[in-house]
Amino acid sequence: MTQLLSDEQVDHYHRDGYLVIPDFASAAACTELREAAEAIVDEFVPSAQRTVFTTDEQVRVSNDEFLASGSGIWCFFEQGAFDGDGRLTTSKALGINKIGHAMHDLHPVFRRFSYTADLAAVATDIGMVDPLALQSMYIFKQPHIGGEVSCHQDATFLYTDPITVTGFWFAIEDATLDNGCLWAAPGGHRTSLRTLFKRAGAPASGTKFDVLDSTALPRPPDDLVPLEVPAGTMVVLHGLLPHWSDVNRSPRSRHAYSLHCIDAAADYPSSNWLQRPPDRPLNRLAAA
Ligand code: FE2
Repeated sequence: MTQLLSDEQVDHYHRDGYLVIPDFASAAACTELREAAEAIVDEFVPSAQRTVFTTDEQVRVSNDEFLASGSGIWCFFEQGAFDGDGRLTTSKALGINKIGHAMHDLHPVFRRFSYTADLAAVATDIGMVDPLALQSMYIFKQPHIGGEVSCHQDATFLYTDPITVTGFWFAIEDATLDNGCLWAAPGGHRTSLRTLFKRAGAPASGTKFDVLDSTALPRPPDDLVPLEVPAGTMVVLHGLLPHWSDVNRSPRSRHAYSLHCIDAAADYPSSNWLQRPPDRPLNRLAAA
C-alpha cells in the first residue's frame, strides 16, 4: 500500500501519541456528513420508556440503549436534556449529545467516509497491521450545553490484548478553545492503562470500571495541550493517550466524527461493552 504520511509525521505520532493532519477531509465531505447526522436526529424517535418517571429507570434504560448501540445507530441525549418527569427540556435537535456506534457500517454516507484508501494508508503507516473499524460516533458538542468529556484513554473503553485501539477523529466544524476542542497529553501514551470499563456480567445490562493502575491521569487543562483545528482536519489518537475536551461555552457547535479501529490479530475480550452479533462482523479499513 502507498505510504501517505511522511516519516516526520510517523515519528511525531510515535513520540507524542497523536498526529494532526490538516485538510484530510474535503469541505464537501464534511457538509455531507453533517447533513447525514442531522437527518438521523430528525428521524430519531426517543424510546417510549423515556417517559417513565424515576431517575433509576432512566439510568437503566440509558444503559440498555448504550449496550445495544454497538451494532446499531442510536442518538444519545445530553445530560440534563430531560426534566424529572422525562420530558425534553430543549428541542430534540439541540438536546442530542452524539450518535453511535455503528453508522460506519450501517449508513451509506458514513460508510463512504470511513472506508477509504487514504484512511487505510494512514492506519498502516502508523503501524496497524490489519485494521478493523470497530466503533463510530458523531459528536455534536452543542452550543452552550455541549458537555465536558473527562480526561480518559480510549483503551479503557475499547480494550484489546495487546492494546491496539486507535482513534481517527475528524473535525467536521472548526474546533477552538471556545467551543471545546480536543486536548491531549503529549507522550502520555507511553504510560499504563489506568482503568478498564467492562460489562459487569449477569444480568448483562450492568457495567463497571476496574482500576488497573491508580496513577492519576494528567489534569486538565494544565497538563494537556489544546488541539485547535479547522474543519477537515483529522487527529489520530493512540489508544493509551490521555485526552480531554471542555464544555462548549460558545454559541457555535463543534461537530466531530470519530472512528475507532483495532488490529484483527489482537484479542477482543467478551467483557468489552461493545459486542457485535456474529452476523455483523467487523470490516477492514480499505477503499469502499
Ligand atoms: Fe476518546
